[in-house]
Amino acid sequence: RITRLQGRRVWDSRGRPTVEAEVALACGVTARAIAPAGASTGSGEALELRDGGTRFGGLDVTKALSSIREIASSLEGLDARDQAGIDERLVALDGTANRSRLGGNAIVATSMAVLQAAAASAGEPLWRYLADGRPVRMPLPEVQIFGGGAHAARRVDVQDFMVMCPAAGSFSEALEWTAEIYLAAGALMKKAGKLQGVADEGGYWPAFDSNEQALDMLMRAIADAGLRPGEQVGISLDIAASEFGRDGRYVLALDGRSLDTGEMIAMLGGWLDAYPILSIEDPLAEDDQDGFRRFTEAYGGRCQVIGDDLLVTNAARVAASAAEGCTNAVLIKPNQAGTITETHAALAAGRQAGFGTIVSARSGETEDVTIAHLSVGWDAGQLKVGSFSRSERMAKWNEVLRIEESLGRDAVFSGWSALPFKDR
Ligand code: PGA
Ligand code: ZN
Repeated sequence: RITRLQGRRVWDSRGRPTVEAEVALACGVTARAIAPAGASTGSGEALELRDGGTRFGGLDVTKALSSIREIASSLEGLDARDQAGIDERLVALDGTANRSRLGGNAIVATSMAVLQAAAASAGEPLWRYLADGRPVRMPLPEVQIFGGGAHAARRVDVQDFMVMCPAAGSFSEALEWTAEIYLAAGALMKKAGKLQGVADEGGYWPAFDSNEQALDMLMRAIADAGLRPGEQVGISLDIAASEFGRDGRYVLALDGRSLDTGEMIAMLGGWLDAYPILSIEDPLAEDDQDGFRRFTEAYGGRCQVIGDDLLVTNAARVAASAAEGCTNAVLIKPNQAGTITETHAALAAGRQAGFGTIVSARSGETEDVTIAHLSVGWDAGQLKVGSFSRSERMAKWNEVLRIEESLGRDAVFSGWSALPFKDR
């Protein structure tokens, strides 16, 4: 039973205020969780409650902390193991469609802290509590090498240039390959006089003259790491096209071109022909469903097409996307949905549709590793938490390493089985 819920202001990886929730149970257990924050957010996401005004650029969270005080009186005495009941109560107490009254940040921190408390009171690691005896796989990591888009002052248009190592024999080997690639990319950037620090998620700052230059550099880094692009290592992109596209026009900052939906699809199709790309996220803007449908129809047979801004971790949107063929995969971010129960519903809807399911961090993160456990415990198959530097990223990768180790020879790596397309 919940005896106390307390909120506190802590700071995220961009030095911005965020909300931590701490739950105490009658059995003596305490547990906590921290809300992350996005920069390239979808318009359908749960709303983050920020104070506005001038303090900390208007980003302070004292209103969200008041929400937690209000939530506390309504949760005291409840059984922390009844996640669905508690989440339902949070949604009802908020009373808005987009969680704007209490704030998605207050709600997600509370919902995750309740989950952490329930697992702790059961005496189990969170992933095992969630799996509840069902088989799980270690997730295929999607790891950023170059940042971009809204995470790098729009220096290049594409937000994430990532690698995936589906041919690795284990999660830990996938990270070993990734480490070599990240190291090789850094050496290449240095040699080219382009090493200028890292972007928000820890990928190298994208000092490139074109998006294609970043792709070429990524190919060279994979080869320099002694790995075979396409066979062993695939490229994964988050275009985050809602950031530069609307009403069917896409304005590319780097080359000053403006593309329509068809030209955008053709450009990405050209990249798919030229590079071993296994996955593309948000290839079109969130208001371009028809573009998504056309893109998936053309390339969904050989490429994972992920909806992030388009689907905002919403089960109904995922089901509709499957029915209309708009994507073949869904990104799963708890703070887009609001609660753990809704997050799981979106993942279940994706699984039902045969989608790839990728549990994902935000660009503003913390030491909280709840999502690493969600990716394993819910057997999502894939995990995306940014790059291979900065400890708010590494904390998640390292947590999965510990889980994999704890399973010993029973650990199964998802690898190719995580991807939703048949031909390769
Ligand atoms: P965000 O970026 O957290 O800034 O939204 C992550 C993503 O777009 O996947
Ligand atoms: Zn995205």
